[in-house]
Amino acid sequence: KILILDFGSQVTQLIARRVRDAHVLSEVHPCDVSDEWVRAYAADGSLKGVILSGSHASVYEDTTDKAPQAVFDLGVPVLGICYGMQTMAHQLGGKVESGHKREFGAAAVRARGHTALLKDIADFTTPEGHGMLDVWMSHGDKVTELPPGFKLMATTDSCPIAGMADEARKFYAVQFHPEVTHTKQGDAILRRFVLDICAAKPDWVMRDHIAEAVALIREQVGDEEVILGLSGGVDSSVAAALIHRAIGDQLTCVFVDHGLLRLNEGDLVMEMFEGKLKAKVIRVDASELFLGKLAGVSDPEAKRKIIGGEFVTVFKQEAAKLKAGDGGHKGATFLAQGTIYPDVIESGGAKSKKAVTIKSHHNVGGLPEQLGLKLLEPLRDLFKDEVRELGVALGLPPEMVYRHPFPGPGLGVRILGEVKKEYADLLRRADDIFIQELRNFIDPATGKSWYDLTSQAFTVFLPVKSVGVMGDGRTYDYVVALRAVQTSDFMTADWAELPYALLKKVSGRIINEVRGINRVTYDVSSKPPATIEWE
Ligand code: XMP
Repeated sequence: KILILDFGSQVTQLIARRVRDAHVLSEVHPCDVSDEWVRAYAADGSLKGVILSGSHASVYEDTTDKAPQAVFDLGVPVLGICYGMQTMAHQLGGKVESGHKREFGAAAVRARGHTALLKDIADFTTPEGHGMLDVWMSHGDKVTELPPGFKLMATTDSCPIAGMADEARKFYAVQFHPEVTHTKQGDAILRRFVLDICAAKPDWVMRDHIAEAVALIREQVGDEEVILGLSGGVDSSVAAALIHRAIGDQLTCVFVDHGLLRLNEGDLVMEMFEGKLKAKVIRVDASELFLGKLAGVSDPEAKRKIIGGEFVTVFKQEAAKLKAGDGGHKGATFLAQGTIYPDVIESGGAKSKKAVTIKSHHNVGGLPEQLGLKLLEPLRDLFKDEVRELGVALGLPPEMVYRHPFPGPGLGVRILGEVKKEYADLLRRADDIFIQELRNFIDPATGKSWYDLTSQAFTVFLPVKSVGVMGDGRTYDYVVALRAVQTSDFMTADWAELPYALLKKVSGRIINEVRGINRVTYDVSSKPPATIEWE
């Protein structure tokens, strides 16, 4: 395994992720672990190498963190990244100077290819024959003098020592960030370090993560009880399956059905978790409550507030009951959430475990504090695609795990204006037809279904009526819009160029099968200036 010592960089988990991508087990620990801890950690011989991360602090905030000196005495390879390079230089007898100018962004590094780390890795070659790397830099301090035994490995114009190596001891360090995708060869460099220099065995698979995570959850929870808000979304589902694997009936899931879910969604969630996994799930049918609160409200933000607020209220009531316990139960003490790593970064909590003030994600609205429950977040180190992979490894159906995202307020923001049960029922059926046909239509060029070729697709209910004819009669019914987009980050999106044959099939089926809808339109607006949802 590889030990990653975290100096608090925003991107430390990206290093871990890249190592996992190379199928090598990695563990992130805070940089201030003791020498004894490091020696004990390495004692069984499974430790193949150490990576020292960057630091979140800009140089202007003083960081005096050091790596445990023992790291350099273990006889295993060490890679320092950014701040990790500076502390390595400093601790091994080189010199680091605080830069007055912060270098931030893309840079071209001249890689001196004579080291095992960078040999034959380059993005391009200069006319003089120097190998060059396009990298991402973010630092202010820099190494100005190599420690004894080190040679120069990489240079940029503004940073003469951008990489250094002591090949006898297998110590390497780079000032740039190989873990971010802007450093094009970053993956190759990290793989070179982990697989070749450390000679770590690439035998780790996501299934192994289950065992590690299960052990951690058991250790953290002990014999206490856990509540989890199950939404049917990917993250809470995978968290539930994982925690259930670890502690079985010590977990109770609360599934608040606000009546704005997709067709049969509530039943499917129950079938999966209660039926198949045999987990304890409390289903709260709150659709009448939600529809009641939403009556007469047509402003999108007001609707969102009501749905979010009611959700928290209902969940809190259930959680309070579980917390109180009853005859046989002493009551729950943990609240589990499906927080994943991007959420951690978003809520500014990525100061990582080093700073233990872990901020909770707003999945269920800052509830742990209000309820006086401890937080259990077993997915907080994982990226979305890893969460999906984990879900499949846990036995969740791929259709559930690879589902398009669905907004918390559900159909509440896909029914324009006032939400009514009649509208929701019509929309659910129309939407189900659209999704079925997206799954049915295979693109011959890629062999993938149009569901997989789009990032998000759904139907929007327009509460306006238009005239149509059906048989001999005139109809005067509602309109729906189909929306399908392709995007990588949901910040910008293009409308998907769905095949006409698919659109034709969908519109034909909706108009024929869903009495009450007589017109189907396709939304051809990109984001920006439009948004993905209509409200
Ligand atoms: P927009 O419409 O802003 O959507 O382009 C971007 C992404 O965010 C989702 N979305 C929401 N998700 N609660 C959520 O949990 C919301 O209120 C909400 N509004 C939009 C949307 O589905 C898309 O994936």
